[in-house]
Amino acid sequence: MKWSPDLDTGIPVIDKQHQRIVEYINQLNHAQQSSSREEVGEVLDQLVDYTLSHFTFEEELMDESGYRFVNAHKKVHKLFVRRVSDYVERFKIGEDITDELLTSLKTWLVNHIKNDDSDYTEIVKESMGDEKKSGGWLSRSMKKIFG
Ligand code: FEO
Repeated sequence: MKWSPDLDTGIPVIDKQHQRIVEYINQLNHAQQSSSREEVGEVLDQLVDYTLSHFTFEEELMDESGYRFVNAHKKVHKLFVRRVSDYVERFKIGEDITDELLTSLKTWLVNHIKNDDSDYTEIVKESMGDEKKSGGWLSRSMKKIFG
C-alpha cells in the first residue's frame, strides 16, 4: 500500500501517524509473504497497539477543538477496534485471516481518512493554532500517549 497525497489531512502530526499505520500494514503484508506466523503475530500486536494510540490521540485532539461530531467519530473507532479484535482472536486460534484482514484494513483506512478524519481537520487546525499560542495540551497528549 502506498501513501498518496490525497490521504493528507494537512495536520502533520496526524499524517505521520497515518503513514506509520500504512507502514505496519505493509509490514504485515511482508510477514505474511515470508510465511512467518510468529512475525505476523508480532506485527499484528504492534499494529493494534499503535492504532489504539492513534485513536486516543486523535480523540483528544477532537475533544480539545470542540469538534461537534466527536462522539460519532469515537463510535467508528470503537467499531473498528472490535472488528480488528475479532480478527486477532481468530488468528490466535489458528485461522489464516491475514489476506482478509489486509484487504479490510486498506479499505477501511482509506475510507476513514478521506470521509471521517477529513471532516475534523478545519476545526482541529484552528484549535492547534490556539494551542501553539498558549502552549500545552498537544505536547502533553503526545507524551502521555506515545511516550
Ligand atoms: Fe485517523 Fe479517525 O482515525
